[in-house]
Amino acid sequence: MSSFEFTHQTVLLNETVAMILGVKVLSKTQKGVFDGVYVDATFGRGGHSRLLLEYLSKDARLIVFDKDIQAIQVANELARTDKRVTVIHDSFASLNEQLHQLNIAEVDGLMADLGVSSPQLDDGSRGFSFMRDGRVDMRMDTTRGEPVSAWLSYVDVDTLADVLYEYGEERHSRKIARAIKAMENYDSTLALAEVIKQAHPAWQKGKHPATQSFQAMRIFINNELGDVDDFLNQSLTALKVGGRLAVISFHSLEDRRIKRFLNNHSRGRWEDDDKLPIPPQRAKYFCKPWRVAPSDAEVDANPRARSAWLRGAVRTDVACRHF
Ligand SMILES: C[S@@+](CC[C@H](N)C(=O)[O-])C[C@H]1O[C@@H](n2cnc3c(N)ncnc32)[C@H](O)[C@@H]1O
Repeated sequence: MSSFEFTHQTVLLNETVAMILGVKVLSKTQKGVFDGVYVDATFGRGGHSRLLLEYLSKDARLIVFDKDIQAIQVANELARTDKRVTVIHDSFASLNEQLHQLNIAEVDGLMADLGVSSPQLDDGSRGFSFMRDGRVDMRMDTTRGEPVSAWLSYVDVDTLADVLYEYGEERHSRKIARAIKAMENYDSTLALAEVIKQAHPAWQKGKHPATQSFQAMRIFINNELGDVDDFLNQSLTALKVGGRLAVISFHSLEDRRIKRFLNNHSRGRWEDDDKLPIPPQRAKYFCKPWRVAPSDAEVDANPRARSAWLRGAVRTDVACRHF
C-alpha cells in the first residue's frame, strides 16, 4: 500500500474552521462568502483546508504548508483544481519568510493541526509507529535532516536519556536509553519497541510501554517544539488585527506552550521579558480565547481525537484582562 492510499480522519474539523472564520457555528448560508488570506500550516491530507475552501469567496486565498512530501503532493493536486490554493513545502516555522516571498503582508486566519497524520503513522516504512515495522526514521520531511536511526547510532546514553525524559516525560529514561544503545542497529521499529518494553519496569495500563519514548524521539528529530514556538511568535506579526489563530495539539508539552504564549500575549508581555513594559506602538496582543475539546461522539468515532485540544484567539492591539 502506498502512503497516498492511507487516509486521515480530521480532528475538530468544524470547530477549527469556525474558529478561524470567527463564527460560532458554520452554516450553509455562509458558504463562499469569506474574503481574505488564510493559512493552513499543516495540510496533511487537507481535511481542514477543504472545508475552509467551501466557505471562502472566489477571491480569497489559502496558503498551505507541510513538511511531508506526500502531503505536499496531495496539496499540489488540490492546487491544480483550485486556483485559490498556494502550496509550500516547508516548516511552518518559516511562516513569515514564506509570506514575505509571496508578497503577503498580513493574513486573516492561521490554523495548525500539530503532530503526525494517520498516513504517516500507518505507513510502517516511515518509522513512526511501534505497531508497524520499518526502519526507525520518524522524519516528517524525508528530504532533509537525519533519521532517528542515524542519530541513535552516535548519540550518547545521557543525551538520549535526557531526550526521552524531556520530550516523552519518560520516568525510566536512563534505563531505556541504556537498553536502546545496546542494540546493534535501528532497522526495525518493532525490535526497538520490544527492547523498550523489556527495559521498562512499569507502564500505564492500556498504553504501549514504547509510547512515550517514540513520542520523544519523534519530537526531537523533527524539532517539533522549536517549530511551534517559532510559529506562535511569528503569528504575532503574520496576523492582522482582528485575525484569528487556531491550533490543535495532542499532548501537554505542546498545549502548555500554546496556553503560556496566549496568556503572555494577552497581557502584552513578551516571554522572559516580564519586567519591561512594551511601548504601545509595539504592542501586539491576543484576546477572546477559546479552548475546545472534541465531543464524546467524535472521540467514539475517532480515538485519535481523545487527546486533542483546540485553542484559539483573536489578534488585537489592546491588552485584554480576562484571559
Ligand atoms: C495532524 S496532521 C494534519 C492533518 C490535516 N489537518 C488534515 O485534516 O488532513 C499534521 C501534519 O502536519 C505536518 N507537520 C508537522 N510539523 C510540521 C511543521 N513544523 N511544518 C509543516 N508541517 C508540519 C505533518 O507532516 C502532517 O502532515
